[in-house]
Amino acid sequence: MKRWMLPAGVTEASGLVLENADMPEPGRGEVRIKVEAASINYRDQLILTNWYGRTEGRNLIPLSDVAGTIDAVGEDADAWAVGDRVTNTGVRGWEDGIPVDDFGLGLGALDLDGVLAEYVVLPADHLARAPQNLDSAEASTLPIAGGTAWNAMFGDHPIAKGGSMLTLGTGGVALFAVQLCLALGADAHVVLRRRDHMEKLRAMGVASVLNSLDTPDWAAEVARSTGGVRKVVDTVGVGLLPQAMEAVGKTGEVASVGLFELDNKPLSRSLLAKQINLRGVAGASRRMHRDLVEFIETRDLHPIIHQRYAFEDAPAAYRAQAASGIYGKIVIEIPG
Ligand SMILES: NC(=O)c1ccc[n+]([C@@H]2O[C@H](COP(=O)([O-])OP(=O)(O)OC[C@H]3O[C@@H](n4cnc5c(N)ncnc54)[C@H](OP(=O)(O)O)[C@@H]3O)[C@@H](O)[C@H]2O)c1
Repeated sequence: MKRWMLPAGVTEASGLVLENADMPEPGRGEVRIKVEAASINYRDQLILTNWYGRTEGRNLIPLSDVAGTIDAVGEDADAWAVGDRVTNTGVRGWEDGIPVDDFGLGLGALDLDGVLAEYVVLPADHLARAPQNLDSAEASTLPIAGGTAWNAMFGDHPIAKGGSMLTLGTGGVALFAVQLCLALGADAHVVLRRRDHMEKLRAMGVASVLNSLDTPDWAAEVARSTGGVRKVVDTVGVGLLPQAMEAVGKTGEVASVGLFELDNKPLSRSLLAKQINLRGVAGASRRMHRDLVEFIETRDLHPIIHQRYAFEDAPAAYRAQAASGIYGKIVIEIPG
């Protein structure tokens, strides 16, 4: 089989290497997945550029989020059968409730190889069934982007019909949050730092779209026009907390997700790891992931994909994910 490798020391997508490898065999408690799609998250750029998540001297199979079909089941992995369509979950070991102590960085980081391969072996308890209404590319966007948006929206201060939510940009997490919000009949508000995409968002049903170029004081404007939103899903980072706190209404929640503007790293670490209020949002529990799958099926939601790439074009997919102007997810597909 073929797989992509991020060799030790390489920090650019052009240095990724497509190589042949032996077929991996599932051990006890593991299954093998014939990979059909893998999606890229911003964290994969941080790993590529060695901002975090690299073990010195170790080659790494990159990416964490996969969708595919189980083609072999190891001993004691009876929860799954050959032919099941699955994705991984974002955080292994976090079933429900209080987050696990040791979050780790997930698949495709440090000493844990990722999923950018034709076949991967994963622990049976690291999987969830894929939504029936999604193709594999769409399903591969759930583990991190979908799960994190779900946690931000419903993990605390859940948004309900008639509620309101503000988010930033048009990346994977932000658009998931918008879709979940609209599906509930709540108002979504979006602030961009670009002038394009505004019409696309309005066409989706977003109540108000501002850009920070024309409306630098967007937080005050959101507060004025909405009376303060119930929730801000801050996909940018704690550097934006002053604005997020201005835009949110009384007793509302700022769900802090982003790792873009980390003016104050210790503050960010506390928020995300301990999930205190202002609530740091980190990934999703298996329960949240299952709830997300059900919600997607019931409402026939389809995650927004910016662009699909062939397996051979993984470096181009990385570059597209890092570029400004993204509208949804970048997915790498492996045809059956
Ligand atoms: N806490 C967690 O568990 C968790 C999980 C997933 C993601 N994250 C983090 O959340 C952030 C969003 O993730 P993603 O996967 O959705 O990213 P993404 O798909 O790469 O999307 C990036 C989006 O954010 C916008 N953006 C970036 N910096 C901005 C800024 N300073 N002001 C306004 N907009 C900005 C970009 O706008 P342009 O098009 O204008 O560049 C783009 O629309 C990342 O920092 C990621 O690491 C955290």
